[in-house]
This record gives sequence, C-alpha cells and structure tokens, in this order.
Amino acid sequence: PKPNIDPAAMLMKSYACQRRTPLKHHNSILTDALEILAQNAEYNDNEGRSVAFRRAASVLKALPHRVKSMEDLRSLPCLGDHSQRVIKALTGIFGVGVRTADRWFREGLRSPDDLIRTGQQLNRAQQAGVQYYNDLQKPVTKAEADVISDIVEKAVHAVLPGAEIQLMGGFRRGKEVGHDVDFLITHPEEGKEEGLMPKITNWLEEQGLLLYQKTTRNSYLEKMDGPARAPNNMDRFERCFSIFKLQASAESCKSNSTTSVQDISTGSETERPRDQHSEESDWRAVRVDLVVSPYSQFAFATLGWTGSKLFERELRRWAGQEKHMSLSSHALYDSKQNLYLRAKTEEEIFAYLGLEFIPPSERNA
Ligand code: CTP
Ligand code: MN
Ligand code: MN
Ligand code: MN
Repeated sequence: PKPNIDPAAMLMKSYACQRRTPLKHHNSILTDALEILAQNAEYNDNEGRSVAFRRAASVLKALPHRVKSMEDLRSLPCLGDHSQRVIKALTGIFGVGVRTADRWFREGLRSPDDLIRTGQQLNRAQQAGVQYYNDLQKPVTKAEADVISDIVEKAVHAVLPGAEIQLMGGFRRGKEVGHDVDFLITHPEEGKEEGLMPKITNWLEEQGLLLYQKTTRNSYLEKMDGPARAPNNMDRFERCFSIFKLQASAESCKSNSTTSVQDISTGSETERPRDQHSEESDWRAVRVDLVVSPYSQFAFATLGWTGSKLFERELRRWAGQEKHMSLSSHALYDSKQNLYLRAKTEEEIFAYLGLEFIPPSERNA
C-alpha cells in the first residue's frame, strides 16, 4: 500500500529557528509526554537524550494539525525511533498500558478528550485516568504529601492501632515533588497486618477521601518466590493503587475563588468536557500507593520501596553478580549458603551485601 503523505510533515523544516512554533498547538498531549521525558533525561544528566526529546516535541508543536497516524510521524524531522515509540505508548494516562494505547492510537485517538467524545469503552482505572488527567499531570508537592501522610496515619490507626506507617519512594529520598505518594504499612505483631488494606480503603471511602482504588492481595510464598523463581521486579505484597481526593489548603482556595467561573468559561478553548475534573475546583486528585508488609519483611520492603528505580536495579544486579545473592522487596537469599538472610533494618541488608550503608537521601541515582 502507498504510504499516506502528509504535506505539512513533508514541508517541516528541521531547525526550530526555520519554523513558526505557536504557543497553542494541536499536539499538547504528545508534547507534554515528550517534555516530561526530556526533563527526566535532564535530571539524569543525559543532555543528548533530553535535547532529542525536546526537538521531537518542538516539531509536533509546529505541526498545523493533530498527528493522525504513526505514518505522519515518519516523514517528520527529529522524530527518531525512540520518540516514535514513546508517542505510541501515550503513557501519560494512568491505567493505560502500551497495548491499549497502541490500539487507541491506531483508531486515531490522541487525547483524553477524544476518548470521551468517541465513547470508548474504558475500564475503571482508565476512566479515573481520563477524569483526573489534568490533576495527575501536576506534580505532588512535599506539603501535599505531608497532608496525605496525616490522612493515611489516621485511617490506619482507626482500623489497626499500633500499626506503623512509613513514607516511601521519592519523598523518603528527600524529593520536593513527586508523581505520587508512597506508603509502607506494617504491624510489629506478625499476622496483625493480614487483610488490613480493605479495612483502610473502607475507612477512607467512608470519609469520601478516595476517588479510585484497586487493591491486590498478598501472594508471596517464600517457597515459591525464592531461589527457584526467576527474579521478578514486581513484588507480591498486599497493595493498593489509589487516587485520593485532596482538599485544597485554605490559602490556595482563596486564590481560586478570585477567578470567577464566568471568566474561565467564556472562550471555547478553555472549555472542558463535563467528564473531566475541572482545575478550578477546591480539591485535587493525587495518586497514592499503599503497601502492607509483614513485620519480618519490613526491612526488605523498606529498601525496595525507597528507590530510586535505578538504585534498586543496581542493588539487585550487585547482589546477583557480585555476591551470588538474590534480593527482592521480600527477602535476601544467599545461593552459596542456600539460605535466607534475615534482617530487621536496611543497615543489616547493606552489610550482608558487603556495601557501605547509603541513606535514603543519597539513593537518588
Ligand atoms: N516500586 C515497586 N514496585 C512497583 C512500583 C514501584 O517496587 N510496582 C518501587 C520502585 O522501585 C521505587 C518505589 O517503589 O523504588 C517508588 O516508586 P515510584 O512511586 O514509581 O517512584 P518514586 O521514586 O517515588 O518517584 P515519583 O516521585 O515519580 O513517584
Ligand atoms: Mn512515588
Ligand atoms: Mn515514578
Ligand atoms: Mn508509586
């Protein structure tokens, strides 16, 4: 079959200084995703990669229409294989995996609005992802994470006094912003933590604090997940992917109310489909991950859920290649001695691995 030739793409000049790039354009869903990746690459000191993503985003900004097919991208300058794959994945939408994104893309869908307009069948997670798309794109601040910590603590203690709650992920590493807030929950009396998650989510739901949640039961068995099994990055703790409804602080509420609804809804550009949560509301959606660990695995869970992701990957690589050990968020197995190494603290795990202890704030690899 003859490839469709997109004249605008064919005429696209390759230097940004040769093109007109308006502020408002037709591909912001794609360019947002690419710019996040560019920023990420920048944080990781990969300037080449970062510039490549920014160039790709910039080309899409200059395109006088929405990208309609992968075919369109092929004739554009500065859109290498990698950027094309990223665009294909449309990973910006919570709940949308690569396969679904790919199908939607082939059907010509390009944005959350398209999904609503065309009445796509969405599962619960995807509906939430579309509905709270704008909020979930906005970084979560440390102040917001602290408010959510208080809520989670209250919820957990209401259903299981004596339980321990720890802030994990990027915020434990001292980050100022994150894409979500992660918590690890345990109880010093092993067994007390069993079936805890549904009680927590029920409590939160009753308070009207949950917009979405999906809980997965604990499926870890030492016999089966240990040495016999190929290393698996996904842990098997009882866990909950959720979206919290976070009330705006008094301060930001005040600044919101100075803009009247009328001002906002005059231009058709700023009108949002009813199905999407408006940014002018007095609350916002925040992604929260809750994980419950038995006390005996708490040190491993803590190490595994602190990150960064690269730090975790490297820990496991070190354990395997240098120490003939297998590390997961549940356990450390020594293949030479054929035994599990028990630990109560992260420090002990580093010691088993023959590594100098590195505190969370210095695991931002
Ligand atoms: N993690 C995991 N299993 C998952 C998801 C995450 O073990 N299915 C771990 C990751 O390895 C990471 C930690 O949980 O160490 C936090 O993951 P995530 O929230 O994705 O990343 P953060 O480092 O917290 O960064 P961000 O601010 O973007 O949330
Ligand atoms: Mn996180
Ligand atoms: Mn992340
Ligand atoms: Mn997370």
